[in-house]
Order: sequence, then structure tokens, then C-alpha cells
Amino acid sequence: MSSEFAINAEFRCESPPLSRTLVLVLIRRERTGDAAAIDAVHRSAFAREYANANGDRPPGSTAPTADPPEVGLVRLLRDSSGWMPTLSMVAESHDDIMGHVCLTRAGIGPFPVLALGPIGVRAGAQGHGVGAALMHAALGAADALDEPLVGLLGHLDYYPRFGFVPGARLGIVPDQPEWTSHFQVRPLAAYDAEIKGEFRYADPFYEL
Ligand SMILES: CC(C)(COP(=O)(O)OP(=O)(O)OC[C@H]1O[C@@H](n2cnc3c(N)ncnc32)[C@H](O)[C@@H]1OP(=O)(O)O)[C@@H](O)C(=O)NCCC(=O)NCCS
Repeated sequence: MSSEFAINAEFRCESPPLSRTLVLVLIRRERTGDAAAIDAVHRSAFAREYANANGDRPPGSTAPTADPPEVGLVRLLRDSSGWMPTLSMVAESHDDIMGHVCLTRAGIGPFPVLALGPIGVRAGAQGHGVGAALMHAALGAADALDEPLVGLLGHLDYYPRFGFVPGARLGIVPDQPEWTSHFQVRPLAAYDAEIKGEFRYADPFYEL
């Protein structure tokens, strides 16, 4: 077993598959004029999650398909006091925006912290590391800005790889009890163990 593994590993190192196409992806801050492309990212990224809701439309309905709520959430956040223009980032490939993430101002009692989300990668581009690149860029920027902590609601088997732990482990809970099971936090260099209590998102998160 072990020799087979060693052979495979060596093969992968020396001969990357020729069929793999090198796609250049850059992470940059959101710019004026990106809003429609960011809408399209979240419309595509979250479409599958809401497919059933749209599938319930009466047969023959010509009404437009409803957008996933994340599309409206980003727009509301952009107009809210929690918006942090420096921390809204896109993944771009050849002038095409394929992913987006934003961090917005949140709070734990008197302590300002950040909330991450939504994060989305266009359906056809998922599974190639774009989401990880966005996560690392967002967390790195937050850390460099001396933000102490980032909270999010998300999948329990995806975010731990970026250093997220269940909020309850650090004494931090969302102010909506039904969000507790998926609420996770990522302490950064400026984190202090005194930061405990209820996590409050920017207002638009409560309007979903
Ligand atoms: C979640 C998301 C942003 C990740 O972006 P991505 O570019 O596909 O991610 P990466 O290529 O960097 O990483 C792929 C890994 O993420 C995992 N992953 C992707 N979506 C996941 C999900 N919904 N739940 C659990 N794991 C997920 C994949 O299984 C894969 O795992 P592996 O590395 O162990 O094989 C993207 O899949 C997406 O937009 N999903 C739909 C929207 C969504 O659920 N957003 C998060 C909630 S706000």
C-alpha cells in the first residue's frame, strides 16, 4: 500500500496532467460598475439551493424566476452602514467576474468585529480553488487591518479548513438562536478572549 502511494505521489509531482488548462484568476477589490456582475455571480452560485422554490411555480408561468436572496442581500449591504468597500472582493479571470465575497461590520457587545458573506462562485467555476482564494484574501485583509474576528453562518465541513471554529467554543453566539448550529468564528491576530457574547450582523442580514 505504501509503495503504491509513493509511486502515485511522485507521478503527480513530475507530470501534471496535460489536459489541465491554466486559468489566471486574480482577486481584487470590488470597483464601481461591478455590481451587476456580482449579482450574476450570486444568482448562479445559489441557484441550485433555491431551485425547488422556483420549481413550485405554476406550469406555464412566464413570471421571471426569483433571485436567490443573496443577490438582494449584497445590494442591501452595499447601501448599509455596515458596508466596508475595502473588504468586498471579486475573483476575476480575463475581465470576467467569477466569484465574490464581502466582509461587513458586525459587533459583539461593544467590540467591532466582521461578518463574512455571502461568498459565491459561479456554478461552472466551482471546485477549482476560487472560493479558497477569496477566503484567504478576505481573511488576510481583515487580519492586516487588525480586525479581531470574523463570524459567518456556513457549512460545518467547509469553513474549518480556513481556521473557523464553532462560535460557542469561544463563548460567541449569534443573536438569532436558530443560527447557532452553523455559526462559526475565525479569531485573527488582534483577537482577545474578552470578546464574548452575542454576535450582531449588519441590519440587512435580518431582512432576508
Ligand atoms: C462554497 C463556494 C463559495 C466554494 O467555492 P469553490 O470555488 O467551489 O471552492 P474551492 O474550489 O476553493 O473548494 C472546493 C471545496 O469546497 C467544498 N464545498 C463547496 N461547496 C460546499 C458546500 N456547499 N458545502 C461543503 N463543502 C463545499 C467542495 O466539496 C470542495 O471540497 P474538497 O476540496 O475537499 O474537494 C462555492 O462552491 C459556492 O459558491 N457555492 C454555492 C454558494 C454557497 O453555498 N456559498 C456559501 C454559503 S454563503
